Amino acid sequence: HPSNFQEGGDVAINKANCRAKGGAPGFKVAILGAAGGIGQPLSLLLKMNPLVSVLHLYDVVNTPGVTADVSHMDTGAVVRGFLGQPQLENALTGMDLVVIPAGVPRKPGMTRDDLFKINAGIVRTLCEGVAKSCPNAIVNLISNPVNSTVPIAAEVFKKAGTYDPKRLLGVTTLDVVRANTFVVSLVVVYLTVEFPSYYYTSTCWCMFFFFFLQAEVLGVDPREVDVPVVGGHAGVTILPLLSQVKPPSSFSAEEAEYLTNRIQNGGTEVVEAKAGAGSATLSMAYAAAKFANSCLHGLKGEAGVVECAFVDSQVTDLPFFATKVRLGRGGAEEIYQLGPLNEYERAGLEKAKTELAGSIQKGVEFIKK
Ligand code: NAD
Ligand code: LMR
Repeated sequence: HPSNFQEGGDVAINKANCRAKGGAPGFKVAILGAAGGIGQPLSLLLKMNPLVSVLHLYDVVNTPGVTADVSHMDTGAVVRGFLGQPQLENALTGMDLVVIPAGVPRKPGMTRDDLFKINAGIVRTLCEGVAKSCPNAIVNLISNPVNSTVPIAAEVFKKAGTYDPKRLLGVTTLDVVRANTFVVSLVVVYLTVEFPSYYYTSTCWCMFFFFFLQAEVLGVDPREVDVPVVGGHAGVTILPLLSQVKPPSSFSAEEAEYLTNRIQNGGTEVVEAKAGAGSATLSMAYAAAKFANSCLHGLKGEAGVVECAFVDSQVTDLPFFATKVRLGRGGAEEIYQLGPLNEYERAGLEKAKTELAGSIQKGVEFIKK
């Protein structure tokens, strides 16, 4: 193995390594599932982050190769690899932030909940490791189904006596990234042609809809757009609040419906396009790196760092819910209310809550039983 690959044992971190480029204090970050489709590009992106001084790459396969590869990048972070369960403790000791994309992805025809059977156990094991080796770390949980894996993680931490709700964050950034992208890149030229029923044998009026997807709604850089996406991370639980988009823009009922459906089904769109070769990995690594970067800026004590995340929440009557949160030294230090919703969004919220309640309960019961 390359010299930066840990065989277990001594992982004492040289204090000098814990300075990010330019001498500013850096953070120690672990990726669990680092050799996977998300894990590899995420390792690359976090190796490029100047706030990361030490990067630990853990997986049950292939970490020696990924570690050797990423460690040759001429950026400041020191990279170490860890392979298999016996090295989990060393991978986690001393970490400030733990990002978890470990677990199986969907294939066409599957729901995220179909992953529960395998991923619930993986998340439990990894969170038990976090509770033991870095109980104060911020956890970014990516493994699906997020609506259930976050409650699983919370129960594991409660059992271990280490639960701090502010430090456990389900990553829903990809929904926001998609929403921002779709909002600027879409215009629906919505042509309704009505023909009287006597043209046909039926008794009703017939409607024909033609969608031409072109041009722009807002005409701005997607990075300047902000669509809050609340609820959870699966199907109807993904609820974009298009009425609150920034810069302010208004959508017709048809546009709002089209955009909402596309955002809710963005994951499935990728799963189907990959045709059995997995789900979103590159856009997810981008989203995870963006979210992790915000967590690190929060840890640094910067003001005004706000992201959407699926967290322990009192915004609704459910125990977990995704909304905007303010990230600080303690994690999700402030959880924002939903703000004003229009009628369409209020109906969506009810649907989201019904599905979320079951997914949360399933996660809680997995540990309690
Ligand atoms: P992948 O199969 O390419 O990679 C998963 C990695 O996890 C593999 O390298 C595997 O060896 C590793 N792994 C499995 N069991 C492990 C364990 N016990 N400890 C450590 N590592 C383990 O899958 P992927 O495409 O990277 O997706 C990973 C997960 O992320 C899936 O559950 C997927 O549904 C989810 N995901 C979530 C979002 C989101 O928005 N939250 C987006 C995309 C994917
Ligand atoms: C996504 O939204 O892309 C992920 O949750 C992966 C999936 O299964 O859709």
